[in-house]
Amino acid sequence: MCGIIGIASNKPVSINIINSLKKLEYRGYDSAGLATLTDNTINEKKCSGRVEELEKILFKTPSNGNIGIGHVRWATHGIPNLVNAHPHSTDQVSVVHNGIIENSDELKKELEAEGILFKSQTDTEVVTLLITEALKKNNPLNSVFKTLKKLKGSFALGIIFKNFSNIIIGARRGSPLAVGYSKEENYIGSDSYALKSMTNKISYLDDGELCLLTKDEVSFYDANLKKINKKILTMSENDTSTDKGEFKHFMIKEIVEQPDTVRNCIDEYVDSLKKNINIFNFPIEPQKINKIILIGCGTAYNSCLTAKYWFEELTSIDIEIDIASEFRYRKLKFDSNNLYIFVSQSGETADTAAALDICKKNNVKTCSIVNVIESTIARNSDWVLPIHAGIEIGVASTKAFLGQLTVLYILCLKLAFIRKDIDEKTYIKKISNLKKLPEAIKRCIKNDSNVQLMAKEFASAKGSMFLGRGSSFPIALEGALKLKELSYLHAEGYPAGEMKHGPLALIEEGLPVIVIAPKDKYFEKTISNMQEVIARGGKILFITDQKKESLNENIRFGFRVPHIDNLLSPMLLTLPLQMLAYHVALLKNCDVDKPRNLAKSVTVE
Ligand code: F6R
Repeated sequence: MCGIIGIASNKPVSINIINSLKKLEYRGYDSAGLATLTDNTINEKKCSGRVEELEKILFKTPSNGNIGIGHVRWATHGIPNLVNAHPHSTDQVSVVHNGIIENSDELKKELEAEGILFKSQTDTEVVTLLITEALKKNNPLNSVFKTLKKLKGSFALGIIFKNFSNIIIGARRGSPLAVGYSKEENYIGSDSYALKSMTNKISYLDDGELCLLTKDEVSFYDANLKKINKKILTMSENDTSTDKGEFKHFMIKEIVEQPDTVRNCIDEYVDSLKKNINIFNFPIEPQKINKIILIGCGTAYNSCLTAKYWFEELTSIDIEIDIASEFRYRKLKFDSNNLYIFVSQSGETADTAAALDICKKNNVKTCSIVNVIESTIARNSDWVLPIHAGIEIGVASTKAFLGQLTVLYILCLKLAFIRKDIDEKTYIKKISNLKKLPEAIKRCIKNDSNVQLMAKEFASAKGSMFLGRGSSFPIALEGALKLKELSYLHAEGYPAGEMKHGPLALIEEGLPVIVIAPKDKYFEKTISNMQEVIARGGKILFITDQKKESLNENIRFGFRVPHIDNLLSPMLLTLPLQMLAYHVALLKNCDVDKPRNLAKSVTVE
């Protein structure tokens, strides 16, 4: 989850390192640091807290040096403080690391037994000290290679050396590492986004590989240190809008962008003239798909759970869903007629990537639904369906969720039609309904003032509940997830029908309870469940698409979303919940774009 950057250049690099770290801050923001080489000395600057602080330090005491590495941290080993901030350096070598060294305790004991002292509580310092030891008898590349052999776990590393002032070595196992090229400068970075302002020419290290860069060239090595060649990709330019513009936060910008991102996504997949969906080259012949297994984490998992209701409703395909961190350790029976679909905004989530690897090892067909098409998950899967949402920077996922839902829905429609589970008339009708979605999203977003009233009910609440049935149940989970991650307020998402099996005990006078009740086959049932909550003092905030006025003295606020098609309701019902989480976070003075303890890209297990 940390972010790393390295630049080998013919001019001072610290300003560009800072600029890249600002872009990588979505991966971690506990502490920041950089190291450059000046006059054959490693010059390290670190701070606890944000890159802004590091920038202030550099302003007072500039760092020269044409070669350097930088880091933003999401703490795993050792609290987020100055000592544990990266880089970790000796007088010989300086290291930045993303990932977890699982056998660091064991290695630390061995090094301590040899009288070597540690300064920090991090697992990374083990790497620094092992390389320092190896350098006594080896050149830099062999020292790193020998050190890597001792490490268990996942890592992306960037390393500079006091006595080899023109090189940076990068290495990857598990955690992603991109390499960028430009005239008289070369780079390593945790993702292509960090390198975007400097280059659009990128290669990616695969697992076990190393790279050695100077300002003029880059050499790549496989896990046996054999020299290899790498393909250079030209990055897409479709996601260049990376500033907040007129908005106070990325999150609200990304919420407001949703009519456009969903429209882009629909335009990419739907042929309006032919009234058809342009999805081809299925890795398994659609008629032969036995089962679809949808896998993701967090919000991406919630999109899988929503899609389950669509696939069950429209297709004859069996659907299973799983949380990636569970899937990867289950004893599964793999079937070559099953399609395993991995949903991930970043395409770098460690558990999702590991679950995908397991599928690959078992020779089954895989598909990924991702936002970042250059990502590890996209590159490793047989088939990729991008969501075309553009870069999402707010840590809490909003537009990517709607993008994932849109692609899952489009895929579901296409499969239902090819397999003749729905007829042509229904297919065309569903496509034309889908095209109304962006405009309906726009109408929901305009209704912000109602949400602000709702938000006030939460500012002083002890907790809250989100209830829904059918496909509104995953939306309840998503609403609760957004609220808890942004405002640190306890929020539970539940299937409304489960309340009397335990959670009803939590209801007390004034507890805010969001009831999500579109006019679908569950509506009356949900209303009965709501009455049970009202009878126990719950303060209801009602979200529906039904036209009739349904507010009364027990239902404090309502939010009405437009109705297009029952199956599209989940997308619309999500919007007030995203806006609610945003406004509650504002009222509670929380850091909306960088909620505490979290990071955007979860590259550790
Ligand atoms: C919540 C959120 C997370 C992510 C999860 C998976 O707002 O953003 O729950 O959805 O960490 O991330 P991706 O989609 O990148 O695999």
